[in-house]
This record gives sequence, structure tokens and C-alpha cells, in this order.
Amino acid sequence: MSSTPIYTSIIVILILMSCSPKTAEQSMSKQVNSSTKSSSKVESLLAQMTLDEKIGQMNQYNGFFDVTGPAPEGGDNKKKYDQIKAGEVGSMLNVRGAKEVRRMQELAVENSRLGIPMIFAFDVIHGLKTTFPIPLAEAASWDMDYIEQAAAVAAQEAAAAGLNWTFAPMVDISRDARWGRVMEGAGEDPYLGSRVAVARVKGFQGEDLAADHTVLACTKHFAAYGFAESGKDYNTADIGLSTLYNVVLPPFKATVDAGVGSFMNSFNELNGVPATADEFLQQDILKDAWGFDGVMVSDWGSIREMIDHGHAADGEHAAELAANAGCHMDMESALYTKHLKALVEQGKVPLSIIDDSARRVLEAKEKLGLFEDPYRYCDEAREKERTYTGAHLKVAHEVAKRSIVLLKNDADVLPLKKSGQKIAVIGQLADSKNSPLGNWRLASDDNSASSVVEALQARAGNEINYSQGVMLYSGQEFFVMDININEEDASGMDEAVSLAESSDVVIMVLGEHGMQTGEGRSRADIDLPGMQQELLERVHAANPNVVLVLMNGRPLAIEWADQHIPAIVEAWHLGTKSGDAIADVLYGDYNPSGKLPMTFPRHVGQVPIYYNHKNTGRPGPSDAVFWSHYTDVSNEPLYPFGHGLSYASFDYRDLSVSVDSVGRKLDVSVSVKNSSDVDGEEVIQLYIRDHVAKVTRPVKELKAFEKVMITAGESKTIDFNLTEADLSYYDNRGHLVFEPGAFSVFVGGSSQTVLEQKVEVE
Ligand code: NOJ
Repeated sequence: MSSTPIYTSIIVILILMSCSPKTAEQSMSKQVNSSTKSSSKVESLLAQMTLDEKIGQMNQYNGFFDVTGPAPEGGDNKKKYDQIKAGEVGSMLNVRGAKEVRRMQELAVENSRLGIPMIFAFDVIHGLKTTFPIPLAEAASWDMDYIEQAAAVAAQEAAAAGLNWTFAPMVDISRDARWGRVMEGAGEDPYLGSRVAVARVKGFQGEDLAADHTVLACTKHFAAYGFAESGKDYNTADIGLSTLYNVVLPPFKATVDAGVGSFMNSFNELNGVPATADEFLQQDILKDAWGFDGVMVSDWGSIREMIDHGHAADGEHAAELAANAGCHMDMESALYTKHLKALVEQGKVPLSIIDDSARRVLEAKEKLGLFEDPYRYCDEAREKERTYTGAHLKVAHEVAKRSIVLLKNDADVLPLKKSGQKIAVIGQLADSKNSPLGNWRLASDDNSASSVVEALQARAGNEINYSQGVMLYSGQEFFVMDININEEDASGMDEAVSLAESSDVVIMVLGEHGMQTGEGRSRADIDLPGMQQELLERVHAANPNVVLVLMNGRPLAIEWADQHIPAIVEAWHLGTKSGDAIADVLYGDYNPSGKLPMTFPRHVGQVPIYYNHKNTGRPGPSDAVFWSHYTDVSNEPLYPFGHGLSYASFDYRDLSVSVDSVGRKLDVSVSVKNSSDVDGEEVIQLYIRDHVAKVTRPVKELKAFEKVMITAGESKTIDFNLTEADLSYYDNRGHLVFEPGAFSVFVGGSSQTVLEQKVEVE
């Protein structure tokens, strides 16, 4: 089995641009170069369009719903409706449903001079109605087939609901568990992140964007949003070029190579320039070096936010900067529609920029088949047929099972015995049918997830009793700014403790409410919120036979639990089939196979903590104090990247690495034996270390993995082939370079449990 890292297949030469601002004409020539092969339909439309109509294609508005559907056309909405009818709105977001989309589309198609359809966008982040695990959880499956299938189901439901464009995948690498949006990404690693990103793009876009079950994908947020300082959302990112090229950019590049149709820029500034107006990112790298020919949309209001960043003097200036930098569509700032015409007339934005932007938007519409039939995604009968089907729920269930990570299982507490047990289930999240849907579940029905309590009670054999213990949160759950977390009311604790005392096993379901992670939900403490830690300790004192099931959208610092609780299951926010999937794992009906896509710290003070760190000049450990460490907390993570147990046990042996120095290739093979009496899947991970480099390399870098089923007692030999590109890295000029010398190859079931062989590659 060969490994083919998608992001290293082409040598990219990125030329650092000088910091001096470009003139409009310099920008123009670049834009003209990058817009290419339009169809005669698109060219003929462009030839007929007025400047206002072209700028209209660059304008995206949010939908304007009242409770029962699109709001009336009067009042505050009048201007937007008038613009739609005049052909001055290229796209809408947050209008969904075959009927609603048709109605909105008719406004544009039936009234505007050229009848150009709009594109309808929505954040289909982890499913539409059928809700899949949050993306971080899906990444924990390391199962590219299922991740692709989940995206394909999401696309099918979205397309049936009239939608054409999802704002996903989010491919932001992050090393900071405090950042709420880690739940939307694939974690800390650029290689895993690239693989997941490509699987999701393929799932969303399929083979044919005009098919009635596919949508345009959007890679976001370009770039470095996940490096927000101190994990605080929207904060400044200031990172070096080595990190930018080797860590941040690879997943973005991988999606371009996979044919993604659109990109979104981001709220943050990167090294002093707001990404929305960053020409180095959007023009030099994305379009010139990578050849991206799709649409770049701003993030919500991010053009206007450049005024607050201190980069643009006013709205007009912001529109000028963003358009000239290569941002083709304005999401909800309404600044392009307001200022671009005058900016063109004044010569501050070249007409070629407008043409290039409008052309890209029209090309996307053409690929989606909207010119052939603007209502092709507006079939109400099909919407009913294709939404929340049994087949979709089955995929959601499979993905949910695979996303669970068994963090700890001392003395084989799990799986549970199937009969004769008195089981206490404790914690508000155990009974929740809403929180497991996670953040970004904009179209799921409230309370539609299966809860842990109901899934366990649905199985005969054991006696299942539930006690909330302490309330984690109260009040309205979704679309509130802050979840009201209970810090004081301990009135339910005694009941939970006495239930634990009288039970054989206690299952405690603790963690974060689904809306404690996601956009705007950064946390400075990443422990168990509210009174849950106290509850855990009291219940454990009453009955130590505890299984802790975590529900959360980020790594948590749970060192006490690791030291005291015999079994810990990471169950994230798993979506519609959450409870069923958790029950499958607890009972051993599914043997857990997930692996962490992000390091779990012992303490929040270790953050950012990540496996692919540098060695430093003082790696230690040393008896003297002068080495790179903390004096109060270990350097070690609580659970490393790639960690995840199984009810089976796997022995790694016979690592062999042979070097083909002519081709600069490594052939790697390893034997993995399932030495248990249960079948299980294992994610076999290959890491390298480049020992000496002009720009220092991390202590380990994931370069390949394979998820394989190994039956009880069976041994399998796994082969990997590493190419020169796999052994190369991006230098600080963005060149992919190979430097001969010593490399270590590590293979194992996590970033720490590994066999190692060192080789020389000439
Ligand atoms: C802001 C978020 O940053 C982005 O990811 C999302 O797609 C837009 N809002 C639209 O909802």
C-alpha cells in the first residue's frame, strides 16, 4: 500500500512578494492572467452585463427569514429585494428549503434583465438534517471512506433543500484547545488535516457539480485563523514562514489539487495584514502558485472589519483593498455593492478585477448547472425523499461509532457485561438529545439525537437507572450567546452518589455542552465546566467502578480523571446517532478504533501542546534546571496525538526500512499482530524525523497511515512507500526542498508508541 501525500505531489515555488503596495494595474495584470477558460455562455453574459450587474455577482446577502419563511419584501428588506430583482445579488446565504429557495430564485430569474440565477449557500458543516459527528470527531475516525460518505450524504440533503454551496470544509490547523473552533477542523496535524480535507471535498463535490446530489465545497479560512493568539477567537495570528508553509497551508493546497470550487478568507490578520486583503495569500500563493481558478468569498463582514483592524480607513477603502487583493465576493458587508462602481470609475479598482471576479462566480453557476435550470435543486418531493432517510442515518451511525476514542481502559472495565448488572448513568449530558448535535447544527431538529440514557435503556439485560447529579447548564440551549453554566446548585449530588453506591457500574457522561465550543466560544479553562469535577470525585468516592464518557468539542485537561477513573471514552458531540454509537462501544458491539487528532494536555498551561514540536537546544531531561520544561507540570501530554485504545491489543514488530537512494524512496514494512481474542481495527501510523536540516524539522511528522481490520490472532504486514516529496519540507521561501542525510522512520499505534529505524538517504 503506497502513501501518496496529496500536498507534496507538486513542487510549489512561492515567491515572497515585497511589502510595497501594488498599483491597481499591477494587480490587474495578475488577475487577468489567472482567469482563463470561460465558456461561451459565461463570456456572452459578461459581454452583455453592465458594471452594476457584474458587481452584483460579487455581492452575497444573508437571508431574511421571519418565523414561517422568507420575510415580506417591505420595510428593511426592501433594498435587498430590489437588488435581487435588479440582478445585483450574486448569492444568498441562509435561505434553504426547496420551496424557499425557489421563491427567492424566482425573484432574480424572473425579474432581472439577464435572468442570472443566484447561488444559495449554507454552513453544512457536519450534515444538514442528518447530523454527523462534529468535524474534529470525524477526524478522530481516521477513516477517509466514511468521512467522504458523510460529506456526500450532507451534500445530498443540502442539494435536495435547494442549496448549491456549503461553507466547508474548514481546514484550519490548530494547536490550541482553548480556541472554540477546533471542533470544526481536523485537529493539529497537516498531513491528517490534508487527507480529511480532501475526503470532504470529494464527498461534497462528487464527480459532477451539476448532479442533483452534489454541492460546491468551500475551503476555509484562508489562512492561519487557527493560530489566533491565546486561542481567543478572531485574534491576531503572527506566525513564521516555516509554520505557515509546512503546517498551515498544506491542507488548503491539498483541496486545490483536489479541485475545490471555492475558498473563504478569514477574520484574522496574519503578520499584520487582514487575510481578507492579503494579496500574498490570495493572489501570489493561491492563484499564481497553486493555480486556483474558483471563487474567493470573504468571511461574514470581514471586509468591513478591516476598518477595526486598522487596515482600511473606511468602507470604501476596505472594498478597494479586498477587491484588489483577490476577494471575489463580499459576504454581508454590503461594501462592494456600495463602493465598487465608484472605485472603478476613479481607477482605483481595475475593471479587469471586476470581470475576473464576476467571471469566476458565473463559472461556478455554470458548473452547478444553474444556467440550464435555475430551479434544478428546488424539487419539494425530492427534498422529502432524500432527507433524513434510513440510509443516511445508517451512515451517521457508522461514522459516529468510528469517531469514538477509547482513552483509557484499566483492568478491562469495558466492555460492559450484557446482563445482570445494575448500572447508574449520571450527568445531564447523558440525558441530552440536543447537546450531542454539537455546534453548527443549523438545520437539525431540536432534540433529535439519541441520548445515552435512552440508548442504554433500549437494550435488555441490565438495569439502567439515571440521575442528573448536577445540572451542567440551564435555559435555552441553542442560538444563545452564552450557555448558562451551573456553578452553585449541588442539590442533585446526593441522589447521584447514593445511586452510584447501590450500583455495580457507574457511567458518568460529562463534558461540554454542544454550544460551549464553536465560533466565539473560546475558553481559558479547558477542564470539566461547572460542578462536574466535584460530582465526578464524589461519585468515584462512593463507587470507583466508573466509566467516564466525555462529550466535548475540544481536548480537555482531565488529569484527575486520568489518575482515578479506570475507563475513559471520548465521545465528542456525535450527532443524530450519538447515544446508539456510545452504547455500541460501551457494550463492545463495536470495538473502538478512533485515534486522537489533537493532543490532550494535562494542564491548560501546556497549551499550545502538539506532537510535532521542535527539539530545541535543550530538550532535556536534565538534573539541572536549565532545560526546556515547566517546573510545575510535566512536558508530557495527558494523551498524545494518534492515541486511542481498542478492546483488542496490537503488537508491532519487524519494522524494516529499505532505502532506494537513487530514487530517494523508502520502502517500509511492519508486522502488526492482533494478540487478543477479539477482532479490531487499528490505525497504523508512520512518522519521520529529518535529523539535520537548514530549517529545523519537528521531532516527528506524520507521513502516512492505514486503518486496517485485523482479526483475533491474525498478523498483517503493512507496507508503506515514502517518496522524495515525503522526505522534503518547505523552506522559508516556500520551496519544497530535499536535503540528504539521516532520517528516522517510526511506526506505531500513536505518535508515542512506536518502533524506530534510522537510515541515511543520499
Ligand atoms: C462566519 C464563520 O467564520 C464562517 O465560517 C461561516 O461560514 C460564516 N460565518 C457564514 O455563516
